[in-house]
Amino acid sequence: MMKVAVFNAKRYERGVIEKVADGHPFEFTFLETRLDFQTAALATGHEAVLIFVNDVADRAVLEKLAAGGTRFLGTRSAGFNHIDREAAEELGIQLAYVPAYSPNAVAEFTIGLILTLGRHIHEGHNRVRRADFNLEGLCGFELRDMTVGVCGTGRIGTEVVKLLSGFGCKILAYDEEPNEEVTLLASYVDTREELFRYSDILTLHVPLMPSTFHLIDEAALGLMKDGVFLINTSRGALLDTPAVVEALKTRKVGFLAIDVYEEEASLFFEDRSSDIIKDDTFARLLTFPNVIVTGHQAFLTQHALRNIAETTVQSLDEFSRGVSCSHSVPLP
Ligand code: NAI
Repeated sequence: MMKVAVFNAKRYERGVIEKVADGHPFEFTFLETRLDFQTAALATGHEAVLIFVNDVADRAVLEKLAAGGTRFLGTRSAGFNHIDREAAEELGIQLAYVPAYSPNAVAEFTIGLILTLGRHIHEGHNRVRRADFNLEGLCGFELRDMTVGVCGTGRIGTEVVKLLSGFGCKILAYDEEPNEEVTLLASYVDTREELFRYSDILTLHVPLMPSTFHLIDEAALGLMKDGVFLINTSRGALLDTPAVVEALKTRKVGFLAIDVYEEEASLFFEDRSSDIIKDDTFARLLTFPNVIVTGHQAFLTQHALRNIAETTVQSLDEFSRGVSCSHSVPLP
């Protein structure tokens, strides 16, 4: 039996992992806690470790895991910016991820955020629940009158373009490597600055990397249309959040919908309703009527959970049999 420690194991995914792994020689230890320097010792004696987006897998943690006998680390996510890939290679820890468990899940959620905020559906729902049927302040816009900019047309961005094409809006796209499928439905611009300049709605689908860190900062915001609608369902650190808060105050940013937040690791995925939130930037975001924040749930569909479990179990199986991993994390 290969021992597998599963960090950040939520109830909604444990059953799916167990079902998909049924019949495999794996013994799972499901841990509520996230992986970090303090909790890494819990994996001692586990040859394989599974993590999620807000677990810490930096050099110090990986060294601790390696010392405890871990030789395989799989992230149950499409992003792998939280893993020190060089350290893992040096320590002989094999890395796997889930590149495309369901781009549609994130793409559909992105459209959901645009429609919810653009038509004030969340506010309408709240009003009706307190028997307030007044429509004042609920006037929205129609997507057919908008130019939507899609930044990053990989797996998720391409699905977003396809879904948007049904709404009759003008679609602009930017990617370092344009995708032919997208050219049928959207017009590529040559620079991201052009995308910022001409979009009424801008949605981000690039990965977090040094070149995309704080992609949306004060300078980028300065190029955008007044009242621009920003959506981020990719990674929090694509936004310089304090700069976006300032732009919300001046109404430069007219709408903001985010499923991810730069400092989310100490907030998201847990019930903190009895805690005092100490992050003033995050707390300020929650005060704006034109901001929606969700807690990194864009991926969360039954389809996606099943695919995440299947790919992860396949990677564990390949590792346990010593064959090359079909979903190994690309080398840095
Ligand atoms: P992907 O790798 O298929 O596509 C990324 C695209 O960005 C590629 O086409 C690439 O050429 C482009 N790109 C990279 N750097 C760029 C730059 N500097 N400027 C312009 N384009 C650039 O990735 P996928 O599957 O579409 O996912 C995108 C991101 O979405 C992931 O990295 C992850 O961080 C995030 N994500 C968020 C989820 C959520 O629950 N909120 C769930 C899954 C993924």
